[in-house]
Amino acid sequence: EKDGHKHFMAKEIAEQPTAIDRALANYLAQDNSIVLPEALDFSQIERLTLVACGTGYYSCLVAKYWFEQIARMPVEVDVASEFRYREPPISADTLAVFVSQSGETADTLAALRYTEGKAKQIAGLVNVPESSIARESDIVLPIKAGPEISVASTKAFTCQLTVLLLMALKAAEVRGHALPENVLEDMRALPGLVHQAIAAENSIQAMARDLAGARDVIFLGRGALYPIALEGALKLKELSYIHAEGYASGELKHGPIALIDETVPVVVMAPRDALFEKTVSNMQEVMARGGKVILVTDAEGAKMAGDGVHATIVLPALPDVLAPILYAVPAQQIAYYTAIAKGTDVDQPRNLAKSVTVE
Ligand code: M6R
Repeated sequence: EKDGHKHFMAKEIAEQPTAIDRALANYLAQDNSIVLPEALDFSQIERLTLVACGTGYYSCLVAKYWFEQIARMPVEVDVASEFRYREPPISADTLAVFVSQSGETADTLAALRYTEGKAKQIAGLVNVPESSIARESDIVLPIKAGPEISVASTKAFTCQLTVLLLMALKAAEVRGHALPENVLEDMRALPGLVHQAIAAENSIQAMARDLAGARDVIFLGRGALYPIALEGALKLKELSYIHAEGYASGELKHGPIALIDETVPVVVMAPRDALFEKTVSNMQEVMARGGKVILVTDAEGAKMAGDGVHATIVLPALPDVLAPILYAVPAQQIAYYTAIAKGTDVDQPRNLAKSVTVE
Protein backbone atom coordinates (compact mmCIF):
# COMPACT_ATOMS: atom_id res chain seq x y z
CA GLU A 1 0.00 0.00 0.00
CA LYS A 2 3.01 2.26 0.41
CA ASP A 3 4.23 1.30 -3.05
CA GLY A 4 7.64 0.27 -1.78
CA HIS A 5 8.11 3.48 0.23
CA LYS A 6 8.92 3.36 3.91
CA HIS A 7 6.19 5.80 4.85
CA PHE A 8 3.00 7.19 3.38
CA MET A 9 4.64 10.59 3.53
CA ALA A 10 7.47 9.46 1.25
CA LYS A 11 4.94 7.92 -1.13
CA GLU A 12 2.87 11.08 -1.15
CA ILE A 13 5.90 13.31 -1.73
CA ALA A 14 6.84 11.08 -4.67
CA GLU A 15 3.31 11.19 -6.05
CA GLN A 16 3.35 14.95 -6.48
CA PRO A 17 4.28 15.05 -10.18
CA THR A 18 1.31 12.77 -10.98
CA ALA A 19 -1.01 14.58 -8.60
CA ILE A 20 -0.16 18.01 -10.02
CA ASP A 21 -0.59 16.62 -13.51
CA ARG A 22 -4.06 15.40 -12.55
CA ALA A 23 -4.98 18.80 -11.11
CA LEU A 24 -3.76 20.50 -14.29
CA ALA A 25 -5.65 18.05 -16.50
CA ASN A 26 -8.81 18.84 -14.57
CA TYR A 27 -8.68 22.61 -15.10
CA LEU A 28 -6.44 23.27 -18.10
CA ALA A 29 -7.78 22.26 -21.52
CA GLN A 30 -5.58 21.12 -24.42
CA ASP A 31 -5.91 24.57 -26.04
CA ASN A 32 -4.63 26.14 -22.80
CA SER A 33 -7.97 27.58 -21.77
CA ILE A 34 -8.57 27.48 -18.03
CA VAL A 35 -11.80 25.67 -17.31
CA LEU A 36 -13.38 26.43 -13.93
CA PRO A 37 -16.96 25.68 -12.88
CA GLU A 38 -19.25 27.96 -14.88
CA ALA A 39 -20.84 29.42 -11.78
CA LEU A 40 -17.51 31.02 -10.86
CA ASP A 41 -17.54 34.35 -12.67
CA PHE A 42 -14.64 36.61 -11.73
CA SER A 43 -16.21 39.56 -13.56
CA GLN A 44 -18.87 39.62 -10.81
CA ILE A 45 -16.41 39.45 -7.92
CA GLU A 46 -14.35 42.33 -6.56
CA ARG A 47 -12.47 40.75 -3.65
CA LEU A 48 -11.54 37.44 -2.12
CA THR A 49 -11.50 36.09 1.39
CA LEU A 50 -9.42 32.94 1.76
CA VAL A 51 -9.78 30.86 4.92
CA ALA A 52 -8.17 27.62 6.07
CA CYS A 53 -6.15 25.96 8.86
CA GLY A 54 -2.56 24.74 8.98
CA THR A 55 -0.98 23.96 5.66
CA GLY A 56 -4.13 25.05 3.79
CA TYR A 57 -3.69 28.47 5.37
CA TYR A 58 -0.22 28.70 3.82
CA SER A 59 -1.71 27.85 0.42
CA CYS A 60 -4.03 30.82 0.93
CA LEU A 61 -1.10 33.08 1.84
CA VAL A 62 0.70 32.15 -1.39
CA ALA A 63 -2.53 32.68 -3.35
CA LYS A 64 -2.78 36.21 -1.96
CA TYR A 65 0.46 37.10 -3.78
CA TRP A 66 -0.87 35.58 -7.00
CA PHE A 67 -4.35 37.17 -6.93
CA GLU A 68 -2.96 40.56 -6.00
CA GLN A 69 -0.06 40.62 -8.43
CA ILE A 70 -1.59 38.88 -11.42
CA ALA A 71 -5.33 39.59 -11.15
CA ARG A 72 -5.00 42.87 -9.20
CA MET A 73 -7.72 41.77 -6.78
CA PRO A 74 -7.65 42.55 -3.05
CA VAL A 75 -7.39 39.43 -0.90
CA GLU A 76 -7.92 38.81 2.80
CA VAL A 77 -6.48 35.65 4.31
CA ASP A 78 -7.25 34.27 7.74
CA VAL A 79 -6.98 31.15 9.85
CA ALA A 80 -10.45 29.72 10.33
CA SER A 81 -10.32 29.65 14.13
CA GLU A 82 -9.81 33.42 14.23
CA PHE A 83 -12.06 34.28 11.31
CA ARG A 84 -15.12 32.49 12.68
CA TYR A 85 -15.24 34.47 15.92
CA ARG A 86 -14.04 37.83 14.71
CA GLU A 87 -17.24 38.69 12.91
CA PRO A 88 -15.39 40.20 9.95
CA PRO A 89 -17.54 42.34 7.65
CA ILE A 90 -18.00 40.55 4.31
CA SER A 91 -19.10 42.63 1.36
CA ALA A 92 -21.61 41.24 -1.11
CA ASP A 93 -19.03 41.26 -3.93
CA THR A 94 -16.75 38.81 -2.10
CA LEU A 95 -15.83 35.31 -3.18
CA ALA A 96 -15.16 33.37 0.01
CA VAL A 97 -12.84 30.42 -0.55
CA PHE A 98 -12.38 27.66 2.01
CA VAL A 99 -9.33 25.47 1.51
CA SER A 100 -9.31 22.07 3.21
CA GLN A 101 -7.72 18.76 2.29
CA SER A 102 -10.22 16.73 4.31
CA GLY A 103 -13.17 19.06 3.85
CA GLU A 104 -14.11 18.25 7.45
CA THR A 105 -12.05 20.67 9.55
CA ALA A 106 -14.45 22.02 12.20
CA ASP A 107 -13.14 25.58 12.30
CA THR A 108 -13.08 25.89 8.51
CA LEU A 109 -16.63 24.56 8.22
CA ALA A 110 -17.81 27.02 10.89
CA ALA A 111 -16.04 29.85 9.06
CA LEU A 112 -17.82 28.82 5.85
CA ARG A 113 -21.18 28.88 7.61
CA TYR A 114 -20.44 32.36 8.90
CA THR A 115 -20.09 33.67 5.33
CA GLU A 116 -23.40 32.13 4.17
CA GLY A 117 -25.77 34.89 3.09
CA LYS A 118 -22.96 37.47 3.30
CA ALA A 119 -20.49 36.57 0.52
CA LYS A 120 -21.52 36.57 -3.12
CA GLN A 121 -20.38 32.98 -3.49
CA ILE A 122 -18.73 30.31 -1.41
CA ALA A 123 -16.11 28.08 -2.99
CA GLY A 124 -14.67 24.95 -1.39
CA LEU A 125 -11.22 23.86 -2.50
CA VAL A 126 -11.09 20.30 -1.20
CA ASN A 127 -9.40 16.99 -1.76
CA VAL A 128 -12.42 14.99 -0.63
CA PRO A 129 -15.30 15.91 -2.95
CA GLU A 130 -17.96 14.25 -0.81
CA SER A 131 -16.93 16.18 2.33
CA SER A 132 -18.99 18.59 4.43
CA ILE A 133 -17.18 21.66 3.11
CA ALA A 134 -17.80 20.53 -0.47
CA ARG A 135 -21.48 19.89 0.27
CA GLU A 136 -21.99 23.31 1.79
CA SER A 137 -20.12 25.28 -0.90
CA ASP A 138 -21.79 26.93 -3.90
CA ILE A 139 -18.81 25.96 -6.03
CA VAL A 140 -16.58 22.93 -5.47
CA LEU A 141 -13.02 22.86 -6.76
CA PRO A 142 -11.52 19.41 -6.25
CA ILE A 143 -7.73 19.53 -6.02
CA LYS A 144 -7.34 15.96 -7.34
CA ALA A 145 -4.41 15.03 -5.11
CA GLY A 146 -5.76 11.53 -4.46
CA PRO A 147 -5.99 10.04 -0.95
CA GLU A 148 -3.55 11.60 1.49
CA ILE A 149 -2.89 9.30 4.44
CA SER A 150 0.13 10.81 6.18
CA VAL A 151 -0.84 13.35 8.84
CA ALA A 152 1.64 15.79 7.34
CA SER A 153 0.08 17.32 4.27
CA THR A 154 2.28 17.17 1.16
CA LYS A 155 0.65 16.52 -2.20
CA ALA A 156 -2.55 18.25 -1.08
CA PHE A 157 -0.51 21.41 -0.55
CA THR A 158 1.09 21.44 -4.00
CA CYS A 159 -2.24 20.58 -5.63
CA GLN A 160 -4.01 23.35 -3.69
CA LEU A 161 -1.36 25.76 -4.95
CA THR A 162 -1.74 24.53 -8.53
CA VAL A 163 -5.52 25.06 -8.50
CA LEU A 164 -5.27 28.43 -6.72
CA LEU A 165 -2.77 29.64 -9.32
CA LEU A 166 -5.09 28.58 -12.14
CA MET A 167 -7.91 30.49 -10.39
CA ALA A 168 -5.76 33.62 -10.15
CA LEU A 169 -4.82 33.32 -13.83
CA LYS A 170 -8.45 32.88 -14.81
CA ALA A 171 -9.40 35.93 -12.74
CA ALA A 172 -6.69 37.95 -14.46
CA GLU A 173 -7.87 36.84 -17.90
CA VAL A 174 -11.51 37.65 -17.20
CA ARG A 175 -10.60 41.05 -15.74
CA GLY A 176 -8.37 41.99 -18.66
CA HIS A 177 -4.93 41.69 -17.07
CA ALA A 178 -2.04 40.17 -18.99
CA LEU A 179 -0.87 36.80 -17.74
CA PRO A 180 2.82 36.29 -17.02
CA GLU A 181 4.41 35.31 -20.31
CA ASN A 182 4.11 31.61 -21.18
CA VAL A 183 2.73 30.82 -17.76
CA LEU A 184 0.37 28.07 -18.90
CA GLU A 185 3.08 26.30 -20.91
CA ASP A 186 5.35 26.68 -17.91
CA MET A 187 2.73 25.16 -15.64
CA ARG A 188 2.64 22.10 -17.86
CA ALA A 189 6.34 21.67 -17.15
CA LEU A 190 5.74 21.70 -13.38
CA PRO A 191 5.31 17.94 -12.87
CA GLY A 192 8.70 17.37 -14.53
CA LEU A 193 10.36 20.07 -12.41
CA VAL A 194 8.81 18.71 -9.22
CA HIS A 195 10.17 15.31 -10.20
CA GLN A 196 13.66 16.84 -10.50
CA ALA A 197 13.25 18.63 -7.16
CA ILE A 198 12.37 15.36 -5.47
CA ALA A 199 15.64 13.96 -6.79
CA ALA A 200 17.59 16.61 -4.85
CA GLU A 201 16.94 14.51 -1.76
CA ASN A 202 20.49 13.20 -1.42
CA SER A 203 21.78 16.62 -0.43
CA ILE A 204 18.84 16.97 1.96
CA GLN A 205 19.42 13.61 3.62
CA ALA A 206 22.99 14.51 4.53
CA MET A 207 21.99 17.92 5.84
CA ALA A 208 19.04 16.57 7.84
CA ARG A 209 21.41 14.62 10.08
CA ASP A 210 22.81 18.00 11.16
CA LEU A 211 19.40 19.53 11.65
CA ALA A 212 18.30 16.62 13.82
CA GLY A 213 20.65 17.87 16.53
CA ALA A 214 19.26 21.41 16.58
CA ARG A 215 16.90 22.73 19.21
CA ASP A 216 15.59 25.61 17.12
CA VAL A 217 15.51 26.17 13.38
CA ILE A 218 14.55 29.33 11.52
CA PHE A 219 13.10 29.38 8.00
CA LEU A 220 13.26 32.54 5.89
CA GLY A 221 11.63 33.51 2.61
CA ARG A 222 10.52 36.63 0.76
CA GLY A 223 7.40 37.31 -1.27
CA ALA A 224 5.47 34.17 -2.14
CA LEU A 225 8.34 32.13 -0.66
CA TYR A 226 7.55 33.54 2.79
CA PRO A 227 4.54 31.22 3.22
CA ILE A 228 6.79 28.35 2.06
CA ALA A 229 9.16 29.24 4.92
CA LEU A 230 6.15 29.03 7.26
CA GLU A 231 5.22 25.66 5.76
CA GLY A 232 8.79 24.38 6.17
CA ALA A 233 8.72 25.36 9.83
CA LEU A 234 5.31 23.76 10.41
CA LYS A 235 6.41 20.50 8.76
CA LEU A 236 9.59 20.37 10.84
CA LYS A 237 7.66 20.97 14.08
CA GLU A 238 5.05 18.34 13.24
CA LEU A 239 7.45 15.61 12.23
CA SER A 240 10.64 16.09 14.21
CA TYR A 241 9.33 18.03 17.25
CA ILE A 242 12.10 20.55 16.72
CA HIS A 243 11.07 24.11 17.45
CA ALA A 244 10.98 25.96 14.14
CA GLU A 245 9.78 29.39 13.09
CA GLY A 246 9.21 30.88 9.67
CA TYR A 247 9.81 34.56 9.08
CA ALA A 248 9.67 36.96 6.17
CA SER A 249 13.38 37.54 5.44
CA GLY A 250 12.96 41.29 5.88
CA GLU A 251 11.64 40.79 9.42
CA LEU A 252 14.87 39.17 10.57
CA LYS A 253 16.39 42.36 11.89
CA HIS A 254 13.18 43.33 13.69
CA GLY A 255 13.64 40.69 16.36
CA PRO A 256 14.42 37.10 15.39
CA ILE A 257 18.06 37.89 14.64
CA ALA A 258 18.54 38.01 18.41
CA LEU A 259 18.13 34.22 18.39
CA ILE A 260 20.94 33.57 15.94
CA ASP A 261 24.11 31.84 17.09
CA GLU A 262 26.06 28.80 15.91
CA THR A 263 23.42 26.43 17.30
CA VAL A 264 20.50 27.81 15.27
CA PRO A 265 20.40 26.67 11.64
CA VAL A 266 18.65 29.06 9.23
CA VAL A 267 16.99 27.58 6.16
CA VAL A 268 16.66 30.22 3.43
CA MET A 269 14.17 29.60 0.61
CA ALA A 270 15.47 31.85 -2.15
CA PRO A 271 15.25 31.28 -5.88
CA ARG A 272 17.32 33.72 -7.91
CA ASP A 273 14.61 36.36 -8.40
CA ALA A 274 14.43 40.16 -8.29
CA LEU A 275 14.73 40.14 -4.49
CA PHE A 276 17.61 37.68 -4.29
CA GLU A 277 20.27 40.24 -3.46
CA LYS A 278 18.28 41.43 -0.48
CA THR A 279 18.13 37.84 0.72
CA VAL A 280 21.90 37.49 0.30
CA SER A 281 22.39 40.41 2.65
CA ASN A 282 20.02 38.77 5.18
CA MET A 283 22.13 35.62 4.93
CA GLN A 284 25.28 37.59 5.55
CA GLU A 285 23.75 39.01 8.71
CA VAL A 286 23.05 35.48 9.87
CA MET A 287 26.54 34.23 8.99
CA ALA A 288 28.20 37.20 10.69
CA ARG A 289 26.61 35.94 13.93
CA GLY A 290 27.86 32.40 13.44
CA GLY A 291 24.53 31.10 12.14
CA LYS A 292 24.58 28.13 9.77
CA VAL A 293 22.77 28.98 6.55
CA ILE A 294 21.12 26.22 4.56
CA LEU A 295 20.26 27.78 1.23
CA VAL A 296 17.57 26.38 -1.03
CA THR A 297 18.02 28.01 -4.43
CA ASP A 298 18.80 27.40 -8.10
CA ALA A 299 22.22 27.07 -9.76
CA GLU A 300 22.58 30.79 -10.36
CA GLY A 301 21.52 31.64 -6.81
CA ALA A 302 24.05 29.14 -5.46
CA LYS A 303 26.78 30.87 -7.45
CA MET A 304 25.74 34.35 -6.35
CA ALA A 305 25.44 33.44 -2.67
CA GLY A 306 29.21 33.18 -2.42
CA ASP A 307 31.22 31.65 0.41
CA GLY A 308 30.14 30.91 3.91
CA VAL A 309 26.90 29.06 3.22
CA HIS A 310 26.84 25.86 5.27
CA ALA A 311 24.84 23.77 2.79
CA THR A 312 23.06 24.40 -0.50
CA ILE A 313 20.12 22.55 -1.97
CA VAL A 314 19.96 23.25 -5.68
CA LEU A 315 16.61 23.13 -7.47
CA PRO A 316 15.92 23.64 -11.15
CA ALA A 317 15.45 27.27 -12.19
CA LEU A 318 11.87 28.20 -13.09
CA PRO A 319 9.66 31.27 -13.61
CA ASP A 320 9.16 33.24 -10.38
CA VAL A 321 5.43 32.71 -10.28
CA LEU A 322 5.84 28.92 -10.01
CA ALA A 323 8.61 28.91 -7.42
CA PRO A 324 6.39 28.43 -4.34
CA ILE A 325 5.08 25.14 -5.74
CA LEU A 326 8.56 23.77 -6.43
CA TYR A 327 10.11 25.00 -3.18
CA ALA A 328 7.40 23.23 -1.18
CA VAL A 329 9.16 19.97 -2.04
CA PRO A 330 12.44 20.57 -0.12
CA ALA A 331 10.35 22.06 2.73
CA GLN A 332 8.68 18.65 2.98
CA GLN A 333 11.85 16.63 2.53
CA ILE A 334 13.83 18.58 5.12
CA ALA A 335 11.17 17.69 7.70
CA TYR A 336 10.90 14.11 6.49
CA TYR A 337 14.61 13.31 6.64
CA THR A 338 15.13 15.17 9.92
CA ALA A 339 12.35 13.05 11.42
CA ILE A 340 14.00 9.89 10.06
CA ALA A 341 17.33 10.97 11.58
CA LYS A 342 15.60 11.56 14.93
CA GLY A 343 13.58 8.37 14.72
CA THR A 344 10.18 9.98 15.26
CA ASP A 345 6.91 8.57 13.90
CA VAL A 346 6.70 10.19 10.47
CA ASP A 347 3.19 9.25 9.39
CA GLN A 348 1.55 9.57 12.78
CA PRO A 349 3.28 12.29 14.83
CA ARG A 350 2.34 12.58 18.48
CA ASN A 351 -0.72 14.64 19.43
CA LEU A 352 -1.83 15.15 15.84
CA ALA A 353 -4.83 13.91 13.86
CA LYS A 354 -5.25 13.84 10.10
CA SER A 355 -8.61 15.49 10.28
CA VAL A 356 -9.43 17.98 13.04
CA THR A 357 -13.20 17.67 13.31
CA VAL A 358 -13.45 19.23 16.77
CA GLU A 359 -12.58 22.74 17.79
O1 M6R B 1 -7.97 18.91 6.14
P1 M6R B 1 -7.49 20.33 6.26
O2 M6R B 1 -6.74 20.80 5.08
O3 M6R B 1 -8.64 21.27 6.59
O4 M6R B 1 -6.52 20.33 7.49
C1 M6R B 1 -5.95 21.53 7.96
C2 M6R B 1 -4.81 21.27 8.89
O5 M6R B 1 -5.24 20.54 10.01
C3 M6R B 1 -3.66 20.53 8.21
O6 M6R B 1 -3.19 21.20 7.09
C4 M6R B 1 -2.49 20.33 9.19
O7 M6R B 1 -1.90 21.57 9.51
C5 M6R B 1 -1.48 19.33 8.60
N1 M6R B 1 -1.12 18.36 9.60
C6 M6R B 1 -0.24 20.00 8.05
O8 M6R B 1 0.75 19.10 7.69
